[in-house]
Amino acid sequence: MRTSLFAFAALMAVTAPAMAGPAQDKMLAHFQAQAQSPASTARGQSLFEGRFTGGKPETPSCTSCHTASPAGIGKTRAGKEIAPMALSKSPERYSDLKKVEKWFRRNCKSVLGRACSAQEKTDFIAFMISQ
Ligand code: HEC
Repeated sequence: MRTSLFAFAALMAVTAPAMAGPAQDKMLAHFQAQAQSPASTARGQSLFEGRFTGGKPETPSCTSCHTASPAGIGKTRAGKEIAPMALSKSPERYSDLKKVEKWFRRNCKSVLGRACSAQEKTDFIAFMISQ
């Protein structure tokens, strides 16, 4: 009994993202349904950390504003603080589809010079809710 409970807990730990609640699970499912392949936290991390040339020269990376760490407090170009992107630090994040779509639209345009694909959104959210 004890071992099976332990096994169950261990399974949950690897399958469920660390802090994701129902709202974040729903958000991830929303984007996953439009994506080609299963969410990849590694690809999400690459998107977050990558440097791109298609967008504005002053914002070559998501980290330009959000800092190099998902747990870090970011800064807008005007100097206003941005709460960390990691769900463990900012439990409200990735729960409001309108907000998420608005900021993906703006920020992907600034950094990549184009909209992010459903796959990129899926991977990014999967990475951030694991952080
Ligand atoms: C020019 C600065 C800037 C850059 C560059 C930037 N962001 Fe953001 N981002 C913001 C601001 C400002 C907010 C809104 C404030 C907040 O949510 O705390 C935000 C919020 C978000 C949100 C909303 C999260 C939520 O549900 O609360 C997502 C998703 C996001 N950014 C993704 C990205 C991605 C992906 C990139 C890189 C492709 C990126 N951002 C690059 C400034 C930036």
